[in-house]
Amino acid sequence: MEPEVIPAILVKRKEDLLERIERVRGKARSIHIDVMDNEFVPNKTVGPDDFAGLPSGFDYEFHWMVKNPEQWIAKVNGNHLHVVHIEAVTDWEAVKRACKKVGGRLGIAISPHTPVDRLEPVAGDVQMIIVMGVVPGFSGQKYIPQVEGRISELKRRYPKIAIEVDGGIEPSTAGRARAAGADRLAAASAIYAQPDAGKAIEDIRNAAKKKLNAPDPHDKK
Ligand code: DX5
Ligand code: ZN
Repeated sequence: MEPEVIPAILVKRKEDLLERIERVRGKARSIHIDVMDNEFVPNKTVGPDDFAGLPSGFDYEFHWMVKNPEQWIAKVNGNHLHVVHIEAVTDWEAVKRACKKVGGRLGIAISPHTPVDRLEPVAGDVQMIIVMGVVPGFSGQKYIPQVEGRISELKRRYPKIAIEVDGGIEPSTAGRARAAGADRLAAASAIYAQPDAGKAIEDIRNAAKKKLNAPDPHDKK
């Protein structure tokens, strides 16, 4: 299967969110919206008040980089994918309840320095794991190659759960993440800092495919 390339949007204003959504219309199926509370991470973005009536035609996934994610999810109705950070979870049952109540689906994200064993108690409840390729907080950071071992380990443990890599994905890193086992590649700056977002998505997808066909013998798998 082809890897899915997913535009990630990290912005502070609703009008920028809408503009970035429209820039990838027809080029992407899913959109990843970064949400930050200035507590879980030292940055603040758009939030639930901005998510009413999002444009149709996309699957939305919310990447909740917030404390008490259940309180945030409760404000966003619809069949969206809600991805919370394992480091922010204090009451998993409350997260599950909130997600069910709004009609959403659940995913879990894990930061680069958190042991993957932490996912064991929640893995049975999620349809996606986001493996962070950078420490969460900002776009445009450098990809941490050590996360590839984590991707392959998680794929081995949970072959049925989709694995998404988020942070530092660009054509030069997409193939490595894909070869390690990532099914989905989220990218912000590599798409939105380019003049043609659609072409940038293609470039990432092609780079990911190429590397899979011709694996680099020096890459540890
Ligand atoms: C990081 C965010 C990522 C980020 C990706 O905290 O969760 O989604 O926006 O940005 P790039 O692709 O520029 O690393
Ligand atoms: Zn994200």
